[in-house]
Amino acid sequence: MAENIPPLAVIGGGNMAQAIVLGGLDAGTLDPSRVVVADRNEAKRELFRAAGVEAVATPGDAMSGLCAMERAAGEIGQVLLAIKPQSLDEVAPMLAGAWGDAERVVISLLAGVSGERAARALGVAARIVRAMPNTPARIRRGATGVVRTGSAKEGDTRAAVQLFAAVGEVLEVETETHLDVLGAVAGSGPAYAFYLAEAMIDAGEGAGLPREVAERAVIATLAGAGELMARDSARDPGALRAAVTSRGGITLAAMTVLDAAGVKETIDAAVQAGIDRGRELGA
Ligand SMILES: NC(=O)c1ccc[n+]([C@@H]2O[C@H](COP(=O)([O-])OP(=O)(O)OC[C@H]3O[C@@H](n4cnc5c(N)ncnc54)[C@H](OP(=O)(O)O)[C@@H]3O)[C@@H](O)[C@H]2O)c1
Repeated sequence: MAENIPPLAVIGGGNMAQAIVLGGLDAGTLDPSRVVVADRNEAKRELFRAAGVEAVATPGDAMSGLCAMERAAGEIGQVLLAIKPQSLDEVAPMLAGAWGDAERVVISLLAGVSGERAARALGVAARIVRAMPNTPARIRRGATGVVRTGSAKEGDTRAAVQLFAAVGEVLEVETETHLDVLGAVAGSGPAYAFYLAEAMIDAGEGAGLPREVAERAVIATLAGAGELMARDSARDPGALRAAVTSRGGITLAAMTVLDAAGVKETIDAAVQAGIDRGRELGA
C-alpha cells in the first residue's frame, strides 16, 4: 500500500501534520522513507524523526528533500501544506524558491483559503486540492473533507483521500463552499462536543455530584453515544434521541428546556459564524 502514495513534503509539523503523518505511518499507508517534514521547532522535528521520518527546519529544505526522493522514486511527489492560513504569504516564497519546474499536487489544509488564493500565493506549477481534517485524526477517528479546486485535474484527490482515510472518514465534496461548511461543522466540530461536555459536567457538579464523578460519567456517556451513532445500523441521531425520550419522562423534560431556549438555532448561528470567520481568515 505504501508505494501508492507519492513522495510527500509536509510543510508545518504542528498538530494536524502530526496526526496525519503519524496516523498514516501507523496504518502503513505512508512509507517513512518517502516523507520529509519541515518545521522550525526542534521538538516537533524530533517527534517525526522518532517515527523514522526526515525532518528539516525550512520549507525550502523540505522541497530539496522532496526533489531527492522524486529522483530516487522516478515519480513526481506531492506537498501537504499544514501551516496556519496566516503563514501562507511568508511560506509561499520559500516553497517557490526550491520548487523547480515540476507540476505537483499541493494538498492545502489552510482553513478558509481558496484554491485560487493558494495557487496565486505559491505562483508555481501547483495543482491545489483542499482538505479539512479535524483533531480526532490523532486517534484515527477523524472526519476529513476533500475537494479538487480549479487548478487541479481529475484524479488529483486520490493521494489525499488515501492519506486521510488512514486517519478516519473521508468526505469528498464537489465545491469549495461545501468544504468551508465542513470546516465549520467538522473541523471545529470536536469543540462543540467538548463544549457540551463542559456544560454537562458543570451542571452535574452544580447539582451536587463530586466533579470527578460528573467528569467520568459525562465523558463515558458522550463517547458511548458517539460510538452508537457511528455504528452503521444506528446513524440517525434523531431516531436515537427519540428512543431515549419517553413521554412524560426525565429526558423529555430536559429536551423541552433546550428547545425553548433555541439551542438548535444557536448552533446554526455558531456554524454560520465559523464559516464567516474562515472566509475572513482566508481572504
Ligand atoms: N487544528 C485543527 O483542528 C484544524 C482543523 C482543520 C484544519 N486545520 C488547518 O490545518 C492547518 C495546520 O493547523 P495546526 O493546528 O496543525 O497548526 P500549527 O500547530 O500552528 O502547525 C503549523 C506548524 O508550522 C510551523 N511553521 C510555520 N511557519 C513556518 C516556517 N516558515 N518554517 C517552518 N515551520 C513553520 C509552525 O511553527 P510555529 O508554531 O513556531 O509558528 C507550527 O509548528 C491550518 O491551516 C488549519 O487551518 C486545523
